[in-house]
Amino acid sequence: MKFSKPITDIIRERTSWRTYYPELLKEDVKGEIEKILKQDSLVSPFNSKTGNCRFEIVSVLEFDPNEQKKLGTYGMISGAQEFIVGASEKSEYYKVNFGYLMELIILKVTDLGLGTCWLGGTFNRTIFSKKINCKAEEVIPAITPIGTPAKRRSREKIIRRMIQAKKRKPWEEIFFNTNFQNPLSNENLNEYSTILEMVRLGPSAGNKQPWRIIKEENRNVFHFYVKYPEGKLAANYRPFVKLDMGIATCHFDLTAKEYGIKGGWHFTKPDIPLPENLDYIVTWKSE
Ligand SMILES: Cc1cc2nc3c(=O)[nH]c(=O)nc-3n(C[C@H](O)[C@H](O)[C@H](O)COP(=O)(O)O)c2cc1C
Repeated sequence: MKFSKPITDIIRERTSWRTYYPELLKEDVKGEIEKILKQDSLVSPFNSKTGNCRFEIVSVLEFDPNEQKKLGTYGMISGAQEFIVGASEKSEYYKVNFGYLMELIILKVTDLGLGTCWLGGTFNRTIFSKKINCKAEEVIPAITPIGTPAKRRSREKIIRRMIQAKKRKPWEEIFFNTNFQNPLSNENLNEYSTILEMVRLGPSAGNKQPWRIIKEENRNVFHFYVKYPEGKLAANYRPFVKLDMGIATCHFDLTAKEYGIKGGWHFTKPDIPLPENLDYIVTWKSE
């Protein structure tokens, strides 16, 4: 996937937009996005571990007026006329794979100057599944509106304030050295400091930031773990944490590639004691 500027700039620019000008995408822009959705470069490190995954643009006008009222996004999203909708066959890694690929698309769409907003919960799955002819074995993990961002409505500002959408957890709460007892210092990490910072800036459902990463001592080996949400609303966010992990791996992968650092993804769980509520996902090793 090619971008017009450094991926670090695009990751910093991306933010969730819930207020759009009520206009359709220009034909040439829509054509360009359709090409991106069909590109061979729409691949993730998890492809080999998952079934098929596909993406389509769906316009609100394609729904009959009765269905339009039931898309289920309208309290949350205003004005958007088009959505990218993805469907995936279920498998062990399908959510991580979907998270990686959808974020790749979202970053590309951000590069085109359009707004997006990951929607895992606030949309009507039944209606969107029908629209893209989901097969029995397919599910829609998430969708995103795409369009020209308009000034945020007060309702959107309230949502952002409630979930503290701009904030991210401090480095020492999410990145560790050797085991979960030792916070990782970002000194002497060179490019890896920016690579991890790009993970830290990623979007996540409810801004829960469930990614935890352990770096091995003196080796450029990074183990990715998911921390399941705790507390009152934990059950609301749990279905989305593997999507968040896909986003984290996407930011890591794209930034490492931009720095020309060679490495690969591995699926062997390391022998590191796990605190409660954490699960191993994947490892990245430099070559
Ligand atoms: C997997 C996933 C699911 C999300 N689901 C929703 C949703 O259903 N409704 C919504 O308004 N925002 C949703 N969001 C957006 C997050 O609230 C947002 O990314 C987070 O607050 C950080 O804000 P930012 O994207 O502006 O950086 C979701 C984000 C992710 C990554």
